[in-house]
Amino acid sequence: MPTATALDQPHVMNTYGRLPIALSHGRGCRVWDVNGKSYLDALGGIAVNTLGHAHPKLVRALQDQIGKLIHTSNYYYNPATEQLAAMLAQRSGMSNVFFCSTGLEANEAALKLARKFGHDKGIENPQIVVYEKAFHGRSIATLSATGNPKVQAGFGPLVEGFIRVPMNDIEAIRKATAGNPNVVAVFFEAIQGEGGVNPMSTDYMQQVRALCDTNDWLLMIDEVQCGMGRTGKWFAHQWAGIVPDVMPLAKGLGSGVPIGAVVAGPKAASIFAPGNHGTTFGGNPLSIRAGLETIRIMEEDGLLENAAKVGFHLQTALVTQLMHVKGVTEIRGKGLMLGIELDRPCGVLVQRCANAGLLLSVTADNVVRMVPPLILTSAEADEIVATLVPQIKAFLAEQA
Ligand SMILES: Cc1ncc(COP(=O)(O)O)c(C=O)c1O
Repeated sequence: MPTATALDQPHVMNTYGRLPIALSHGRGCRVWDVNGKSYLDALGGIAVNTLGHAHPKLVRALQDQIGKLIHTSNYYYNPATEQLAAMLAQRSGMSNVFFCSTGLEANEAALKLARKFGHDKGIENPQIVVYEKAFHGRSIATLSATGNPKVQAGFGPLVEGFIRVPMNDIEAIRKATAGNPNVVAVFFEAIQGEGGVNPMSTDYMQQVRALCDTNDWLLMIDEVQCGMGRTGKWFAHQWAGIVPDVMPLAKGLGSGVPIGAVVAGPKAASIFAPGNHGTTFGGNPLSIRAGLETIRIMEEDGLLENAAKVGFHLQTALVTQLMHVKGVTEIRGKGLMLGIELDRPCGVLVQRCANAGLLLSVTADNVVRMVPPLILTSAEADEIVATLVPQIKAFLAEQA
């Protein structure tokens, strides 16, 4: 009944290929549309809804905060900001944090840190190593760092100062940077999200850490999508036992309330001085409270362990049921960040799965991606498998 009006948005700028679905409310890992149809949410607002929907503890905390202060500006101290910064520093092994509101802003701050790190050393034209298939955001600088021509098309001239290399190839980065005194940083996602759920190998991350140490470059790891417990550790690079110098965060940090952060280690913590960087909304009391409560609840409820356990269960079931199917090329990822690569574009699966009551996305044209809330249960993982596997099999069979 209400669909015609709910889906009609003549005044909203046309920037998204939306599904013909209008959501009205959610609970846990489930959401309902305005017609009352329910969906299991394996997309989690694109790796944002860490605690699922309407988590009672988060709802209570945010209601309390809204009744006190939402926003004040950075002219004044907010004691909770230090608390959240300390929590992130402790969990990352790093030291200082700058707060902002989104992933691209966190990445912009990282890029500025890298450039100023270079300028402070007398490097006038600093260059940053970035990766094929990377995604870092849609501002002019972050889309220039992104390795996807579709994201860049129409927005040239791009920002200069990037050197692009393939993933997981230490010789390629050595060769691309050999004898270049202008290199200041290496910047990658520990697991590429938009690029198709492509993990950096632990060996490679360790080798790049060593390369950065040898050359006095910053190692900057974009954990916007793969961080905040999603892989079963706080940050995905921790599987390699390394610590970066700069780590942008966003998405899952606020469980749906917009918040971004750049976490810096000792080498990068003092690069910015007053006047070098800032943002109106960054670190406002509402977003900081959302970050604090998200981390507290994640620890109280054992969500890192849950992401690892349920993610393994889900991945194992998908491998068992799909890896022998012709047209399925790889199932990869870690914890609750999983991708199923098919040998052909499969965007239609998004709508078909939604029709069957399952929300997910297809990225890089041919990778079915799941980044559900970290509260997902094994029973819900089984439900994902029971819905998704027949959809993939039917799609591949009709295209055979
Ligand atoms: C790894 C990564 N970095 C940065 C971004 C940009 O974040 P935002 O959309 O909050 O600007 C994204 C968004 O998908 C991302 O996946």
